[in-house]
Amino acid sequence: MDFVLSEEHQMIRKAAKDFAEQELLPGVIDRDEHQYFPEELIRKMADLGFMGMMVRTEYGGAGLDTLSYVLAMEEISKIDASAAVCMSVNNSLVCWGIQEYGTEEQKQRYLTPLAKGECLGAFLLSEPEAGSDASAQHTTAQDCGDYYLLNGVKNWITNAGIAKVFLVMAQTHPERGSHGINAFIVESDWPGVKLGAKENKMGIRGSDTRSVTFQDVKVPKQNRIGEDGFGFKFAMKTLEGGRIGIAAQALGIAAGAYERALRYATERKAFGVPIAQHQAIQFKLADMATRIEAARMLVWKAAWEKDQNRPFGLYSSMAKLYASEVAMWVTIEAVQIHGGYGYVKEYHVERMMRDAKITQIYEGTSEIQRLVISRHILQQHG
Ligand code: CAA
Ligand code: FAD
Repeated sequence: MDFVLSEEHQMIRKAAKDFAEQELLPGVIDRDEHQYFPEELIRKMADLGFMGMMVRTEYGGAGLDTLSYVLAMEEISKIDASAAVCMSVNNSLVCWGIQEYGTEEQKQRYLTPLAKGECLGAFLLSEPEAGSDASAQHTTAQDCGDYYLLNGVKNWITNAGIAKVFLVMAQTHPERGSHGINAFIVESDWPGVKLGAKENKMGIRGSDTRSVTFQDVKVPKQNRIGEDGFGFKFAMKTLEGGRIGIAAQALGIAAGAYERALRYATERKAFGVPIAQHQAIQFKLADMATRIEAARMLVWKAAWEKDQNRPFGLYSSMAKLYASEVAMWVTIEAVQIHGGYGYVKEYHVERMMRDAKITQIYEGTSEIQRLVISRHILQQHG
């Protein structure tokens, strides 16, 4: 076992840190307040190779491993969790899904521009009545010979307003349940695709979240991913990797809030000494640092398992569950350490606290992660 990062991994982490501090930090409060994320910043992230980190170089990606990806995600999330989720969806849901399960034609046509960041992707599984219960899909994809006819509504879709490539799950054979679901690549400007208004959210307010309606959208058969009925398994396998990305996002939010709290505690004086000299504050910092390190080990472990081509679903759920709970707890404590200053926007930690909450909800709530983990461990037990 080796916990020392290679020179290449250290360089990637530094590149992400420098980018986040120089390019994302200025304006992060304004973007949160006014709910936007400039295209120019997405361009810069793409130029650094952050939009297709694990995509093979032959498809325009950076050809890096999952550990590189989580290191970059942590650094970006320390500063701007909205930028991080845009990156996470593109990398670990959309690019990875197409790279693993797409045809050569789909890779040439969609993966290459996605990996280069020339366009963005979105992952459309959730529906108004199918969130945690993802197999209860109401969106239908009727088989019409050369094409499928897509009808229905998806909601809470990250990147919906800025993405060109939609990975859409829909039900083709309702009588087969989850085995009747298919996954499709749909272009956002095809006739019949309609975007809802931007959601006005508690956190990750820079991230574009909308519903998407499909009305008689014709999807060519060659845009189906995998065999007929593979869509649910496709979504589940893809989410196994996605959850490592969200775990890294949660870790980054926690680590960013902790770093701010640590700095503040050494600067702010109360009762004649820096508050870091009060044991109550020291113990908070000790617990924050310990939980963050434990979360980091779980995130790295999940990334390592994936990079070794070993089954990693158990570890990605553990990492996502634990890191998101740590993010919520640490950010609340970071606000507490800042006292009244923590309650205003200029000190960043209140935004981090709002941003942390989503990591316990999307890509499977904490309850769903516990369900997945318990299924794994009971299955292993026999
Ligand atoms: N890999 C391969 N196959 C899998 C699988 C996996 N990880 N998980 C399930 N399957 C297969 C099962 O083996 C089963 O197939 P068989 O019938 O052939 O055995 C089939 O899929 C159905 O599985 P389950 O019976 O376990 O399905 P379920 O209805 O009990 O649901 C669930 C399982 C884990 C709760 C699943 O519905 C789930 O993950 N829900 C959460 C949804 C979610 O995470 N949504 C995220 C949306 S994307 C997002 O949120 C992005 C973002 O914010 C940025
Ligand atoms: P529900 O499933 O209705 O759950 C409500 C509550 O019941 C939760 O606490 C849940 O844990 C609990 N619960 C449900 N079932 C069980 C059970 N069996 N056991 C115990 N507890 C249970 N989806 C996408 O497809 N693509 C995206 O890009 C995307 N981005 C998102 C961005 C944001 C900002 C948000 C808010 C959501 C996003 N989602 C996306 C949707 C997200 O994945 C779902 O919100 C999430 O999976 C939960 O589904 P739900 O909201 O329908 O809650």
